[in-house]
Amino acid sequence: MTIHTPFAHLRPWLAALCLTASTLPAAWADSGPMLPRQTPSAYLQECGSCHVAYPPGMLPARSWQRLMTGLDRHYGSDASLDPATVQQLAGWLQQHAGTYKRVAEEPPQDRLTRSVWFQRKHREIDPAVWRLASVKSAANCAACHGGAEQGRFDDDELRFPAGLAPQHRRAFLDD
Ligand code: HEC
Ligand code: HEC
Repeated sequence: MTIHTPFAHLRPWLAALCLTASTLPAAWADSGPMLPRQTPSAYLQECGSCHVAYPPGMLPARSWQRLMTGLDRHYGSDASLDPATVQQLAGWLQQHAGTYKRVAEEPPQDRLTRSVWFQRKHREIDPAVWRLASVKSAANCAACHGGAEQGRFDDDELRFPAGLAPQHRRAFLDD
């Protein structure tokens, strides 16, 4: 007999996370959209123009704060915005920043791609895949996640990045 529980479809790490984190946002638990329902349009437009608009819950408040006070020196780019927009978005990011255990740690360089949870979720991907011309950077979520623009990272919306070698497909397929 199959026992159906709400978490039955989740991978073991996520199930473990659910058990240990009491403030886990529902969006993470059901792998649904991770961008808050009322995401400011300025966030989607400005912070989604060079890369996808990263879900605020993927970084802790301190990281967002640092990012928003250094937009003129943003990972080698100038991502400056007018002061009113900075204030609006910074406040919104503080409100929706990640709070549960996994995300509470500030990752190196305030890169969500350097956080422990990110590296664990992507540990089965071969190093050669990150170097593909169609990927180039782990920050380029949309190369592999079809729903990234809308904040969806569920593993049933994965796509093969262009040029993916057959022997590297396994991490992208349900096992
Ligand atoms: C002018 C282009 C540009 C704009 C606009 C921009 N970014 Fe970025 N952002 C970058 C680049 C370039 C990187 C580094 C990407 C890489 O390493 O591949 C980056 C990286 C990041 C990262 C770290 C990603 C990682 O590696 O984990 C975060 C978080 C981030 N941006 C947030 C924002 C936010 C918030 C805004 C809006 C206020 C914004 N960005 C606007 C260019 C931009
Ligand atoms: C090179 C392709 C690639 C890139 C780029 C990438 N991912 Fe992934 N991601 C994957 C694969 C493949 C999996 C599934 C891994 C597995 O199940 O072993 C995954 C899994 C995930 C999961 C877990 C999904 C679930 O349902 O368990 C999240 C969340 C996630 N990625 C977020 C991101 C974010 C955010 C970015 C960008 C900052 C990103 N990924 C960039 C390939 C990628």
